[in-house]
Amino acid sequence: MSVYGAAKIGCTKSGVWIQISNAARSVILSDVARHRVALKCDYLREVTTRLDKQISKQSISDQMRRVRSWKTTPELTVRRLLRKNGIRFSGRNTNLPGKPDITLREPKVAVFVDGDFWHGRQWSTRGHASIEAQFNGSKTSNYWVQKIRRNMDRDCKATTDLVKDGWRVIRLWESDIHKNPEKCIRTIMQAADLPSTYDEFAHVAEKTCAEFFAGIGLMRLGLEKAGWSVRFANDIDEQKFEIYRSNFDCSDGHFVRGDVHNLTSDEVPTVALATASFPCNDLSLAGSRQGLQGAQSSAFWGFVDVLKKLGSRRPPIVLLENVTGFLSSHGGRDFSEAMLALNRLNYTVDPFILDAAWFVPQSRQRLFIVGVSKAFQSAGPAETQQFYESRVRPKALADFILRHPEIDWNIRKLPIPPRTSVLLADIVEDLPTDSSAWWSASRAEYLLNQMSPKHRSIADLLMARKAWSYGTVFRRVRNGKSMAELRTDGIAGCLRTPRGGSGRQILFKAGNGKYFVRLLTARECARLMGANDFVVDFPLNQALFGFGDAVCVPVIEWVAKYYLNPLVGELIRSRVLGGSPSSARTSVAA
Ligand SMILES: C[S@@+](CC[C@H](N)C(=O)[O-])C[C@H]1O[C@@H](n2cnc3c(N)ncnc32)[C@H](O)[C@@H]1O
Repeated sequence: MSVYGAAKIGCTKSGVWIQISNAARSVILSDVARHRVALKCDYLREVTTRLDKQISKQSISDQMRRVRSWKTTPELTVRRLLRKNGIRFSGRNTNLPGKPDITLREPKVAVFVDGDFWHGRQWSTRGHASIEAQFNGSKTSNYWVQKIRRNMDRDCKATTDLVKDGWRVIRLWESDIHKNPEKCIRTIMQAADLPSTYDEFAHVAEKTCAEFFAGIGLMRLGLEKAGWSVRFANDIDEQKFEIYRSNFDCSDGHFVRGDVHNLTSDEVPTVALATASFPCNDLSLAGSRQGLQGAQSSAFWGFVDVLKKLGSRRPPIVLLENVTGFLSSHGGRDFSEAMLALNRLNYTVDPFILDAAWFVPQSRQRLFIVGVSKAFQSAGPAETQQFYESRVRPKALADFILRHPEIDWNIRKLPIPPRTSVLLADIVEDLPTDSSAWWSASRAEYLLNQMSPKHRSIADLLMARKAWSYGTVFRRVRNGKSMAELRTDGIAGCLRTPRGGSGRQILFKAGNGKYFVRLLTARECARLMGANDFVVDFPLNQALFGFGDAVCVPVIEWVAKYYLNPLVGELIRSRVLGGSPSSARTSVAA
């Protein structure tokens, strides 16, 4: 409205001002009666919003001004103790990546004193499950969360750059200096005479990954969205590799196609993380239930062998992904054996379950396990059912954890994931009615007749509506008869590989007295996996095999953002990183 467009409202420390142009004033004067109340309300609302913004901006900049970024109390403590121990050092070096607070020129040691708030530790020490939770309810939440995440990324980048340049890097938390300054000084002194050996944490800051059982590369896609980079990938399947290489540049030879059992340690570079979404065929309820000894799922042991072969170059973090049936396979024996195998490789383990339906309109529950080198292990919380049980660790999993004290668990508090509002209808392709993808009337009718009376009546209801509705259908054999099962809750069923002809998911579109039937397209499958822009120009079956076996991209991104990245932030603290040519190595190990 012109009145509001011509009026300016603002505020200073001393009060609120309203500036009204002549044009605006004349409108106000000519139409006072009609506008008076509305204007007052709108002005007040706008003034309050402006004041709020101004206050929050002011409080942010006030806080920022009050916080010193260098020569802080903990930093002065470190300096004093270094002097006391006869260590010569220089102050802040603004020419080096990240501007280390203290440097020892010979040997090259760079020390950072990181504030808990600014560098992303305070939320966890205060018992929150995420950075977001720390600012819950605050108007400036977004600002702080983004700022802290940027700082965390910068910390990793500066650390990586320094390590590559031959520096030994030590990042100290200010709270650790408060708690135990002598221990921090010992770490710095240790860095001064550390022999040139491989340091298993040197690469963590670089957030590099080796992707086993890479399939079409959706694990990679999710990790990359959270700042990780893939240095190595392996899969046995030629057709999946064809899809992978159409989506990711493989000219550097990082993708080694072949059986995981035949990999040698030389082929696998030194990385921070190894991921393994190993075959589920023998673990899923639909499969043979041969477990980890089955022809397919035994590939897990091939992965374990690679980790063994890597010896001291073993990645400090591993991430496993599989169906939730893994938990119950062979009465839980398979899962506990797998966890104990990781324990023997010096990893503590932490399982949790995520459903893709929280992120995309596809029901896809999967079990994840993060293994972390025991060289890094935070003090575990009290072992109580209340602690373990949550949406990401439902009762069956929490019970399993408590029933297996022989397994070295290290359970991390995780935030409750979001619930997406995106529905199946939002991701379907709008194919013209004469598209060859739609089934013929007789074939569609055959499917309709395969529905149980209950599902048929739901289909009829959808047809009777004046708007289009969408559902999905799977064919299943019930009591020896092939039945069409209709799902209409706005979520697609779990995408499966089309083995034996029953794995293809069917789209049912109904409304205005009509109905249409076709298979889900490759693009729709990509969207259901959160890989919206994926190159999918392949025969439908090849694409369905790829997506049916894959991980859901936003789920992996969530794991990286809320688990792996904060973990990296902890792993790079309070230890000596890098400093030898071998630890700076990122290419294939010699
Ligand atoms: C569950 S899928 C993982 C899919 C992948 N995460 C993705 O997003 O596409 C398991 C993969 O393991 C591969 N695989 C099975 N046996 C293997 C073996 N012995 N060595 C290497 N890869 C194998 C399959 O080809 C399949 O792509």
